[in-house]
Amino acid sequence: MQKFAVFISGNGSNLQAIIDSVANGEIKAELSLVISSTDKAFGLKRAEKAGIKTLVFSPDNYTNRQSVDRDIVIALKEHKIDFLVLAGYMRLLTPYFIKEYPNKIINVHPSLLPSFKGAHGIKDAFTYGVKQTGVTVHFVNEKMDNGPIILQDTVKINEEDTLETLEAKIHRVEHRIYPQAVVLMADQRLKVKGRRVTILEKPEVKAENSQ
Ligand code: GAR
Repeated sequence: MQKFAVFISGNGSNLQAIIDSVANGEIKAELSLVISSTDKAFGLKRAEKAGIKTLVFSPDNYTNRQSVDRDIVIALKEHKIDFLVLAGYMRLLTPYFIKEYPNKIINVHPSLLPSFKGAHGIKDAFTYGVKQTGVTVHFVNEKMDNGPIILQDTVKINEEDTLETLEAKIHRVEHRIYPQAVVLMADQRLKVKGRRVTILEKPEVKAENSQ
């Protein structure tokens, strides 16, 4: 079984959806580690309640981004982590980190990428006045909110919507589609070619003794 880690910085509601999905057997992989960029993240309490090991790597204790990432990578290797799930982790990973886990890091973003990148995807879409926004799950590359797209789903913005009602709608969609993407990672059913991601019916079997 594959092992994975979830990265958080805050509430951890997506982490909770993933914990629940592991518990009910949909995600067939072991959630071995939750990593947070701050000890204030409520998500740490969710992880502890579920009996999952937590580690905090606060940037305040480091002089540069790469040294934070280097220590995180050491911890990931120690725990033999196969893939990484960013869930509201509000830090940009260094190229060094991403090269260690090519096509093994996924992220959820609360807009239809490539629109409304950044830390305020829901608010920016609401303020812009779009009639539809949504949720994107994508692989992580060196650029922010830029990697190949795995899943997307739309959310309509109606006249009656406020920022708060829109946030609630977006989170509902996130909690539905992010665990689905983790299932695809766990089952090794994602194939990346350039910017295109194909969902395979079955995992690719690597030929043994192929020369
Ligand atoms: C989620 O809405 C996620 O899409 C967003 O942070 C929130 C975390 O909520 N991520 C980004 O904006 C990344 N650019 P959670 O801590 O309750 O899962």
